[in-house]
Amino acid sequence: MNTEERTSQQQTAEDKKKQEFLQNRGEIPRHIAVIMDGNGRWAKSRGSVRIAGHKAGVDSVKDIVEACGQLGVRHLTLYAFSTENWGRPKGEISALMKLLVQSLRSETRKLHENEIKLTSIGDRDRLPPTCRRELEEAISLTAENKTMELCLALSYSGRWDICQAVSRISQKVKDGELCPEEITNDVITDHLATAHIPDPDLIIRTSGEFRLSNFLLWQSAYSELYVTKTYWPDFRRDELYKALECFQNRERRFGKVSPPLELEESPLVIR
Ligand code: FPP
Repeated sequence: MNTEERTSQQQTAEDKKKQEFLQNRGEIPRHIAVIMDGNGRWAKSRGSVRIAGHKAGVDSVKDIVEACGQLGVRHLTLYAFSTENWGRPKGEISALMKLLVQSLRSETRKLHENEIKLTSIGDRDRLPPTCRRELEEAISLTAENKTMELCLALSYSGRWDICQAVSRISQKVKDGELCPEEITNDVITDHLATAHIPDPDLIIRTSGEFRLSNFLLWQSAYSELYVTKTYWPDFRRDELYKALECFQNRERRFGKVSPPLELEESPLVIR
């Protein structure tokens, strides 16, 4: 059975086995963030219009959300529309916003049934009113859900996030609530749009480009990066499993040394 034929009620035995293998093999990242890229090129390679790529991308979103929930990922953040994407042709922007509204209308109930909490990061004020309303309704309906948080980065960029954090911190300094010397990593982290989410353990980028494109700039300091040439509309759960295997093979040191090295005696130590 291919991914197209599978529904949430019919997870194949083979797929369940693959997930159990990964769960037993190593750590499942607590937070996965995804730069969903390549929709346009996917469509072009099929002689189709760009929006056809975005539509096919929604099917990947559904499959990846479902697989992450089943695997026990606690936070999934999807870069769905960047600050810079406002510079795209008007027709493409409005088609993307329509797609978002349609997806929220058709998928929110399923998210809720699966105990998934929907949130968003980004400048919501720039979103068209219908889009904003649907988003806020879905966020409020699912607010108490505990299985997984699906965070949509919409009208988001890392620099926007840092600017709004700096602005809010400056206001607190101006109002005498905070001294400049008290501004630490934690204070900045707590003023970012992602204050409630741990930093991403794994950032996946599809379509082969090796860049962050203004996504989670502060939060990605120690994220593991995984880049695949696969275009987003072709990135389904089996591609996710490859990314997870690769993540499990990494040694995360966070700027420190790995435990065996730490125990080694340095020949330079003078006794
Ligand atoms: C990047 O591909 C993709 C986007 C800018 C939009 C992503 C949106 C979706 C997958 C659909 C809606 C999302 C949700 C959450 C329902 P690109 O257009 O930059 O592709 P290209 O680099 O090949 O041109």
